Amino acid sequence: MDKNAIHIRMMTADDFDAVVRIDKKVLNVSRPDYYTAKFEKLFKSVDYLPTSLVAEDDAGTVVGFVMGELFMGEYGIFKQEATLDTIGIDPDYQQRGIGKLLIKEFLNYCRRVGVKKLNTLVNLDDSKMIHFFNKNAFTPSKTVNLECNL
Ligand SMILES: CC(C)(COP(=O)(O)OP(=O)(O)OC[C@H]1O[C@@H](n2cnc3c(N)ncnc32)[C@H](O)[C@@H]1OP(=O)(O)O)[C@@H](O)C(=O)NCCC(=O)NCCS
Repeated sequence: MDKNAIHIRMMTADDFDAVVRIDKKVLNVSRPDYYTAKFEKLFKSVDYLPTSLVAEDDAGTVVGFVMGELFMGEYGIFKQEATLDTIGIDPDYQQRGIGKLLIKEFLNYCRRVGVKKLNTLVNLDDSKMIHFFNKNAFTPSKTVNLECNL
């Protein structure tokens, strides 16, 4: 596939089905409830600046997405940190540079709106994702996520 045929645009509420479809193809589990909550937070609340993006092929089919959260408080003041919390590329379209393109556009957009630091969480066992993020300008942070089983 010609990479130039991939078009990156802002995600809209209408992308819900495509995002759920790709996520299911990637994880082999359907998570409509997770995305319903996320879409409501991102598209119905005035407290979040849109940051999420989708990648479309030349036929307009969504083949990948990245979702982030940039909290915008009262008076338009937002934190200088944002999170990248979900990324998914249709397995039939992986390894063609679409993930890289989405991250690049996501970083550019965040930079333009004044974000200074991006955070994302990756499972320590997920060497594929760690490798992918390392290749795309993310480095391990100096904090460790601690948990306690109850
Ligand atoms: C990680 C991911 C975003 C990469 O997207 P992509 O479009 O394939 O990535 P790119 O083509 O830009 O980059 C390829 C890099 O991604 C990684 N990668 C992508 N697919 C891979 C695969 N099937 N096996 C191993 N590594 C892979 C490699 O690090 C590769 O680097 P390399 O060039 O050194 O081989 C994609 O594989 C994906 O969506 N994975 C599932 C993520 C997930 O679990 N999401 C749901 C919850 S958050």
